[in-house]
Amino acid sequence: MFLLFLKGMSQKSFVSVLVLVFSYVVIVLSTPPEDPIKCSSSNNTTCTITNSYGMFPDRTICQASQALYPTNEKELVSMVASASRAKTKIKVATRYSHSIPKLVCPEDSNGILISTRYLNKVVKIDVVEKTITVESGVTLKDLIDEASKNGLVLPYTPYWYGLTIGGLMGTGAHGSTLWNKGSAVHDYVVELRIVRASGSDEDGYAKVEILNENNDEDFNAAKVSLGVLGVISQVYFFFKVMSYK
Ligand SMILES: Cc1cc2nc3c(=O)[nH]c(=O)nc-3n(C[C@H](O)[C@H](O)[C@H](O)COP(=O)(O)OP(=O)(O)OC[C@H]3O[C@@H](n4cnc5c(N)ncnc54)[C@H](O)[C@@H]3O)c2cc1C
Ligand SMILES: *[C@@H]1O[C@H](CO)[C@@H](O)[C@H](O)[C@H]1NC(C)=O
Ligand SMILES: *[C@@H]1O[C@H](CO)[C@@H](O)[C@H](O)[C@H]1NC(C)=O
Repeated sequence: MFLLFLKGMSQKSFVSVLVLVFSYVVIVLSTPPEDPIKCSSSNNTTCTITNSYGMFPDRTICQASQALYPTNEKELVSMVASASRAKTKIKVATRYSHSIPKLVCPEDSNGILISTRYLNKVVKIDVVEKTITVESGVTLKDLIDEASKNGLVLPYTPYWYGLTIGGLMGTGAHGSTLWNKGSAVHDYVVELRIVRASGSDEDGYAKVEILNENNDEDFNAAKVSLGVLGVISQVYFFFKVMSYK
């Protein structure tokens, strides 16, 4: 039907159809998703959070009393500490919030959100060791871009570029397995830094824990923790099998 329609057209209008189709595609691709967190005041209090689809499966959105945007680990620690001191519940949110279930919803409207939006820096690249350390809000796209500039590749990833490292680790996101360790991104993590709430004044109500392959159990749990064990601040990757330089 469509072909018949094209056949009956002059070359000029055929070109216009093509231009129309492609400009539509370009416009769609160049619109980044909105921030899933919306707050009603200028100091980011009284907020709602949803996912990138604009709605959770039960057709609701969630509420939070405040959204915080740390720009480095030190700020993150002090935010977790004051929430912990005030016994306020925290959920970790990301730049686009791609998960479909209500993982990011605080228990009720008194909870707060800590967004990793500005924890988006590449911390360190070691080409000889084939390692990269990034903050947890770095997107998969930025990780892949930064790695490829240095001749490194991650063997497996989910196919969607807009996920953050913290989010895709939290949910155990993966590609498909062909060889070597497996298809999950967290299999290529050798160390991470996680900021955890603490009920005690002794450690200032929050502490940074460094977990790596050598302290196995905690490390394995923290790698796929859906944000319930603390806020992952930094992730140290080992690009094990491929180096095309
Ligand atoms: C189009 C599309 C394609 C996808 N393709 C794949 C695929 O190929 N393979 C696959 O396995 N999955 C896939 N997914 C699922 C996706 O990987 C997960 O939904 C992932 O969790 C989304 O990451 P996010 O950065 O948006 O995190 P969010 O959805 O915002 O968060 C996910 C969870 O991680 C927690 N979290 C986030 N950051 C941190 C942090 N720094 N510290 C502690 N906890 C944190 C959050 O609290 C939440 O519980 C896809 C999703 C979409 C929308
Ligand atoms: C800013 O936030 C505080 C709570 O932290 C709130 O009491 C105050 O009213 C807010 N100010 C504005 C201008 O919204
Ligand atoms: C308030 O939220 C916006 C994102 O919507 C963020 O860019 C800004 O840094 C936040 N302000 C503060 C004071 O945290």
